[in-house]
Amino acid sequence: MDRIVYVNGDYVPESEARVSVFDRGFLFADAVYEVTSVLDGKLIDFAGHARRLQRSLGELEMPAPVDEETLLQIHRELVVRNGIEDGLIYLQVTRGAADRDFAYPEDATPTLVLFTQAKPGMADSPASRKGARVISIPDIRWGRRDIKTVQLLYPSMGKMMAKKAGCDDAWMVEDGAVTEGTSNNAYIVKGRKIFTRNLSHDILHGITRAAVLRLAREAQMEVEERTFTIDEAKAADEAFTTSASAFVMPVVEIDGVQLGDGTPGPIARRLREVYLDESRKTAI
Ligand code: PDD
Repeated sequence: MDRIVYVNGDYVPESEARVSVFDRGFLFADAVYEVTSVLDGKLIDFAGHARRLQRSLGELEMPAPVDEETLLQIHRELVVRNGIEDGLIYLQVTRGAADRDFAYPEDATPTLVLFTQAKPGMADSPASRKGARVISIPDIRWGRRDIKTVQLLYPSMGKMMAKKAGCDDAWMVEDGAVTEGTSNNAYIVKGRKIFTRNLSHDILHGITRAAVLRLAREAQMEVEERTFTIDEAKAADEAFTTSASAFVMPVVEIDGVQLGDGTPGPIARRLREVYLDESRKTAI
C-alpha cells in the first residue's frame, strides 16, 4: 500500500513523506491532532473538528497552518486521491522544526500532516454488534485533556493493559470517577437515563459526544452530564462510548462484571443508529 499523504503543501506517496528529526511534534509531543470519519466518501462533522482544532491550537499558542476552507479542500483531496469510501482522516499540526529547546521557538513554521485510513464497512463493524469489554485503570494523564495533543503514550499503554487482560479497551478512573476511555468518551445508562461526565479540563470534548447528546435529547431521552463512579458503571443497565473512529460503541462488560444480559443495550444500539443516520445526512 502506498497512500498519498499530505505534508506541508504537498501530496506525496507515503514512502516519500518526510518530517524533520527536529520537529517539535517528534521531540516534545508539541502537536495537536484531529480524526475525522468518512462515510460514503463524505466527511462527518468536519466543522466540529475544525473548531476543536482551532481551540487546541489557541490553548497552546500555536498558529494555524492554513485556514478552514483550505483544510476542507485537503481532506477532500485525500479522500479522492486514496479512493476512501469509509474510513478516517488523521490530521496533525506541530509547532514545527527548531533546534531543541524547551521554550517555544519564535519563528518556527508549523508542520501540517494528513493521511487517510481506509476502513471498509466501519459503520457495521462486528465489534459494534458484539459490544466492548473494558477494564478500569487509573487516569494518570496530565491535567489538560481537553487539548487534543499527541501525547498518547498512556492511552496506548491502557489499550495494551486491556488487551493483555483479554479485553477491548480501558476506562480511566480518577478519584473513583470515570474520566473517559483511552480514545473515546464514556457513558452509562441507568433506568433509561444517560449519564456522561460533564465537560472540563479532565476530558476531551468529543465531537461525537456533542452530536450524540443533542440527538438523544431530540429523541426525548433523558441525559445528565455529571461525573459517575466506576462502581455506578458496573451496576449500570448498559454502557457505551463515543468517538469519531467507532461512533457509538456499546460496552457489555466492565472489570469482568457483565452489564444487563451481556449484549449491546437498546439505548446504545438506538443511538448508534440515529447517529449514523444523521451523520450520513449531514456529511459534506
Ligand atoms: N480519539 N476522548 C479521548 C481521550 C479521545 O482520544 C477521543 C477521540 C475522544 C472522542 O472524541 P471525538 O468524538 O471527537 O472523536 C474522547 C480519536 C478518535 C483518536 O485518537 O483516534
